[in-house]
Parts: sequence; C-alpha cells; structure tokens
Amino acid sequence: MESKEVREKFLKYLEKKGCKITPSASLVPENDPTTLFTSAGMQQMVPYLLGEKHPLGARIANSQKCFRAKDIEEVGDLRHNTFFEMLGDWSFNDFFKKEQISWIFEFLTEEIGLDPKRLYITAFRGSPQNDIPKDAETVEIWKELFKKNGIEAKEADFSEKNGMKEGERIFYYDENKNWWSRSGNPENMPEGELGGPDSEIFWDFGEELKLHENSPWKDQPCHVNCDCGRFFEIGNNVFMQYIKEQGKIRPFSKKNVDFGGGLERIVAASQSSPDVFKTDLFLPVINHIEKISEKKYAGSESENDKCFRVIADHIRAAVFLISDGANPSNKAQGYFTRRVIRRAVVKAQKLGINENFMARSAEIAYNIYDGIYDFPKQKVEEELEKEESKFRKTLAEGLKRFNNLVSENADSGKKLLRGSESFYLYQSFGFPKELIQELAAEEDFEFDEKGFDNEFLKHQELSRTASAGMFKGGLADAGEQTTKLHTAAHLMLAALRSVLGSHVSQKGSNITAERLRFDFSHPQKVTPEELEKVEALVNEQIAEDIAVEEKEMSLEEAKNQGAVGAFENKYGEAVKVYTIGGFSKEICGGPHVKRTGELGAFKIIKEESSSSGIRRIKAVLN
Ligand code: ALA
Repeated sequence: MESKEVREKFLKYLEKKGCKITPSASLVPENDPTTLFTSAGMQQMVPYLLGEKHPLGARIANSQKCFRAKDIEEVGDLRHNTFFEMLGDWSFNDFFKKEQISWIFEFLTEEIGLDPKRLYITAFRGSPQNDIPKDAETVEIWKELFKKNGIEAKEADFSEKNGMKEGERIFYYDENKNWWSRSGNPENMPEGELGGPDSEIFWDFGEELKLHENSPWKDQPCHVNCDCGRFFEIGNNVFMQYIKEQGKIRPFSKKNVDFGGGLERIVAASQSSPDVFKTDLFLPVINHIEKISEKKYAGSESENDKCFRVIADHIRAAVFLISDGANPSNKAQGYFTRRVIRRAVVKAQKLGINENFMARSAEIAYNIYDGIYDFPKQKVEEELEKEESKFRKTLAEGLKRFNNLVSENADSGKKLLRGSESFYLYQSFGFPKELIQELAAEEDFEFDEKGFDNEFLKHQELSRTASAGMFKGGLADAGEQTTKLHTAAHLMLAALRSVLGSHVSQKGSNITAERLRFDFSHPQKVTPEELEKVEALVNEQIAEDIAVEEKEMSLEEAKNQGAVGAFENKYGEAVKVYTIGGFSKEICGGPHVKRTGELGAFKIIKEESSSSGIRRIKAVLN
C-alpha cells in the first residue's frame, strides 16, 4: 500500500471512532523552550493530557511531522530516519486500553491488511521499586484479539540473554523499554511529568534477515527488541495514567491514551520492505541520487549504499526543517539543519557528486508530499543553495586537511585526532563537531572530545572578554548576596514547577544584591496559597542545608538527566549543570553558593503579570 493510502486510511478509521483530525504542528514547537523539536505527536497534546479541555473534544488523531535530532548518526541503516511522520491518536480521559488496542489491531490487520501472525507485542513488566504493577490487563486484551484470529499468543516474562522461544508472541520488558514519558524511565521524569506503561507492536520481516550469511547477529539470541533487523517497531500505545509528584510516581487522576506509529515503518511493513528507503516515501529521492551520481543503490551494507540513505533522509529533513523556519545557522534548531545539510554534502562528495545538488533535489521531496503539505519552495531552495555553497567553498580543502592529519598521525603511530586539530577543522572549514567525529570513526581514529570541547570553551572565553562585566544568569555582579539570590532562583523555579506544574519555565531573570526578579511562563495569576507553598518549599530546602553540586557534561547528557535551562544555547558545547539534591537540576553558568544553608530566609515580596502568559516574581533573602 502506498504511503498516501496508509495515512488516509488511518485518519478515516479513527474518524469513524469519533476522533477529530487536527493538522500537524510545526517541527519547531511554539511556546516550549524545554525542547528544540517536535519529536513525537504528543508534544502539542501535553496541556490536554494534563486536563485542559481540547477545543475539539476528548478524541483526537493526526499525522504529525517529527524530527529526532538524537538519531542523526543512526541514519545510514535500513530503518532509521531523522524526519518522519507519526500517525497518532489520543484519548483525553475518554477511551482506554480495551478500545485503543482493539482499534489499532483492527486498523493494522483489516485496513492495512497486515498478517496478524507477523505481529508481536511488548508490555510493561511492572516496577516494584516504583510501586507500579505489571500491565497484565493489556496483555489479556492482546491475547483475546489474537485468539479471535486463530492465534494462540503465548506470553513470556522475558530475558534478553536467552532469546525468544517458539510460539511466544507477547513479551514483558522493564521500565527502560516499556515505560514512556518525554523524559524516559520513571527515574528521569521531572516533577509534574506524565508517563505510563506502553505496549509496542512489532512487525516480523522473517528470520532470513537475521540468518543471512554476513549477519553479525546470526548466532545471537533474537528477540523483538534486538537489532538483528528481523523485527521492526511499528507502533506504540502509551497509557498515560501516572504522574511524578514529590519525587514519586503516582496514579494520575486521568486515564489518557497516546498512540504513535511511524508512517515510514508501517508503510515498509505493508510493502514488505525491510528497507524503508525502498518504499514510496524515499524511492524517488534515491532514484534521483542514482541519476546524478551515476551509481546504483542496492540496499546493502556497503559504504556507498549508506551514503545514499543518509543523503535521502537528510534532504527530506532539511526541506521540512527550513519550511518550518529552522534556517541553517550556528544556533538552536538551525544548527541541526546545518548539520544534516553538511553531512549530506559530505556523503554526496563520496558518491562523486561534486556540484551543488540539494536545492535541485528539493522538488523530488515536495512531490512525495503533493497534496499533503505545502512548502515555501523559493525560501527552501534559497536556503539550501546558500548553505551548500558556503560549505562547498571549504569542503574540499577541509577534507584534504583531514586526510593529511589522518596520514600524519597514523605515520607517527597514533590513531588520534587531537582537540586542537579537530577544532581547527571546525573553525576554519565549518565541519560540525559530530561530522568530524564520524569521519574520525570511519578511519578508526579516536576523537578527543574533551580536547575539542576545551578548545571550544577557550575560544568562547576569548570572544567573551569583549563583553566583560556581563555575567551569566541575569546577574548584576558576582558578589556574595547576588550569588545567594541566584541559588535561591534555582530553588524557586523547581518549587514553582512542583506547585504549578512542569509547564513553568524560566523566561528571564535579573538579580542584584538586594532582590531577585524572575519571569516565568504560567497562564494565570499565582494564588496567595500557591505562593505560600512555593516559599515554604524553598525554605525547606534551605533548612536541609543541601550541597549544591556543579558538573560539566554534554548537552545531551544534561537533557537525559532531566536538567531544565537554556537549551537554546550553542550546540556541541559542554554545559555546566547545577544539582541541588533531588530538588533542582539546571543548566547554568553559575556562580552559586556551596550549600543551601548559606541562604537565610526566603521571602516572595511581589507577584505580577510581566506580559501575556508570563508572570513575574520578586523575592528577597533575609
Ligand atoms: N509518544 C509515544 C512515542 O513517541 C507514542 O513513542
């Protein structure tokens, strides 16, 4: 079945079940500084999952454009994409497990025509330490559905070590696999975050894929979540029925459903192609690259075929990113657009494409989505052309320099790319850090990441001397009282998120020796009772005299740990994270006190509106 038909059938089917269809949100989320991209359909639904009324009701479905920045380097195999569409449906405390699972089963097997014998299921094993029970209810529903189709679905409490056994179809996994929240497993969820057990659906492409002669997986135990290529996750039913409160996972007052299924993968299953790049969502781009490179795509593990896949994925991604306003740049979202374009150009160069090709390839991408999405074509092509031209000016020379470094260093017996060397490639030739890392890995070279980051920081320090006198974090100076108020601001943000909810994020701050002024997102006035709670929570942390810990890490790591803060900074940069016990974790440049006990009594003196949707608090320490 062609992708257009799959997308349309999904939306029509859910419409029949009472769902209202909403358009896809932008890839660049509005009003959500905690995340750079829309990477799941549920992101625009968060307020409604939390209980706000959706104007269209309690049942919604759509096809959402997504971009997963963390998968850029994964792209090159047969199944990973950065840009993809997620078919989604949501229940805001309306239908629940029984309906959701039966509908998805019916959609996949009857509407799309997938053979139920080739569907495999996972469910949540339960988490005793978090007091969350095993999701046996979900498994019963699945078993019943398979039974009606003449299939006895055996369940297994699963051990990855031993692999799956004949007849087993439903597998329990732990919270690292079958728990879903925006921040990962229960431990990583911040206060106020929703999450819940999920139940994933896998498609079986057949054992041949695992057993083929060159497969590194041939003698490994196989299971649905392993990487041998036999199984493909095609959908995920999340039962959003828990919330993190006061550090604990508790049942939420609403039972929500969040379903997401990758369109690319469902189409691959329906076209029996374990290679998503051979489906109609990619093939026209692949054919176009074949034409301009005068090489053939075989869908193999060869370096050339990997280049084909990276280019095809990245062209589509760049077209969509620019369409949604993320023009190539050095900052925030634009940095990722730059990265995918530059990575595609390097791969194209390897295929012998020595001239600008991105802008003229955009047309092929538009055609795939004809009648589905509109593109600001002129802008897309101008931006692609500009970025490619800029990079190509230094590309050949940069690659030459890189190759020289590789042979010089290899001659001296060291397979290492030093920080100063890779930073030079970054600064002089515009090679994104991650691209240098990848090029080094291809040569079996070690990449000194710490060294690179140090060079980067040194360089930043230099450019910062020009603006001496300006301190990070909105501080007027780095005096003792100002520093104390700065730490108090961190405690207050965590307290606000705990009392008002995780939608609260910092919008600005200004701190002098006398007081702190702090702006944050919140739709209405903070009540006196809420302010009192915030004050009390902050004072509790002060009374406990908690150590303030400072640690440097990659931005990625900081995000994984659930740190809040300025993600819109430059990328490729090591960030400082300040942690105050289990209460607060923020990306921040400092300075801070050593222990909360140094702060004294915290008092809020004023709460007022700052601008639409933004509140302002003034507070002091006595
Ligand atoms: N939000 C769920 C996911 O992204 C459906 O997997």
